[in-house]
Amino acid sequence: MKIRTVHAVWFSATGTTEKVVTAIAGDMARILDAEYRSFSFNLPAARAGELAFGPEDLVVFGVPVYAGRVPNLLLPYVRDMVKGQNTPAVPVVLYGNRNFDDGLMELRNVLFANGFVPLAAGAFVGEHSFSTVLGAGRPDGDDMALAMELAQKAAAKVQGLDALLGQPVAVAGCDPIRPYYTPRDRHGEPIKDFLKAKPVTDPDKCVKCGLCARLCPMGSIDPADVSNVAGKCIKCCACVKKCPKGAKSFVHEGYLYHQHELEDQYAGRRAESSIYI
Ligand SMILES: Cc1cc2nc3c(=O)[nH]c(=O)nc-3n(C[C@H](O)[C@H](O)[C@H](O)COP(=O)(O)O)c2cc1C
Ligand code: SF4
Ligand code: SF4
Repeated sequence: MKIRTVHAVWFSATGTTEKVVTAIAGDMARILDAEYRSFSFNLPAARAGELAFGPEDLVVFGVPVYAGRVPNLLLPYVRDMVKGQNTPAVPVVLYGNRNFDDGLMELRNVLFANGFVPLAAGAFVGEHSFSTVLGAGRPDGDDMALAMELAQKAAAKVQGLDALLGQPVAVAGCDPIRPYYTPRDRHGEPIKDFLKAKPVTDPDKCVKCGLCARLCPMGSIDPADVSNVAGKCIKCCACVKKCPKGAKSFVHEGYLYHQHELEDQYAGRRAESSIYI
């Protein structure tokens, strides 16, 4: 099978998924002598239409892991709007040095159910959205070298694609998929109102450039008053990490408790990225 176009497709609030997915897809396009195209579904407008691929496309498809799974508010888009037609795919997840749990399994399964042939996959470590010390600087040189190895090995599998139909690549994780990971307090209870946490804006630092409102994947920041997060917040931290003035932060008690607990538990050790061929 001749692949004519390799597509990098991703959701990436703080850029780590984009970095890995575009590197893999770019390298695969070069190896397969195919055209390279990219598509971000970060913004609500990008998720409004169907995204369909054919048998001569190859899709490197990436999302971050949220609560051990594909981010729940993005799942309907991936499940209902992204379609393949025996299209080879490379599912990729980025996770923040804790664990990717069933995120890669879930992404592989959804793509497979939608007509893709997941022929290779990878779970890579990225700096945790909530932190600058947890997974700091990841993906780093070692992670990117593994991403290039994945690109080469996935490209080598394209020739034998017919034999892979009906048989997605084996990946780590549980199937059936387990429930979402729940942040817990020191008594083991789910952190109160964690899902309701929203970032605040420091009026002394904010220069009203509007970038955060343009970037918010939920379209939840009011462009006329960026301190007003009117809609849902998935805590993706795009606004926090990309504000040029450092004006956005979370001050929610439960959020901060969870952030510090994650850092205490996981910042001291290096989780490794892994690939599945
Ligand atoms: C709401 C939320 C939940 C997360 N849950 C997990 C998790 O369960 N395990 C983990 O290791 N990292 C978790 N992370 C961290 C991200 O997976 C990680 O930082 C990833 O690199 C972010 O990708 P991006 O830069 O493309 O946005 C979570 C991040 C957010 C915002
Ligand atoms: S990106 Fe930062 S400086 Fe710009 S409007 Fe948003 S909070 Fe203000
Ligand atoms: S308001 Fe929430 S959802 Fe929107 S960019 Fe900020 S953290 Fe992400």
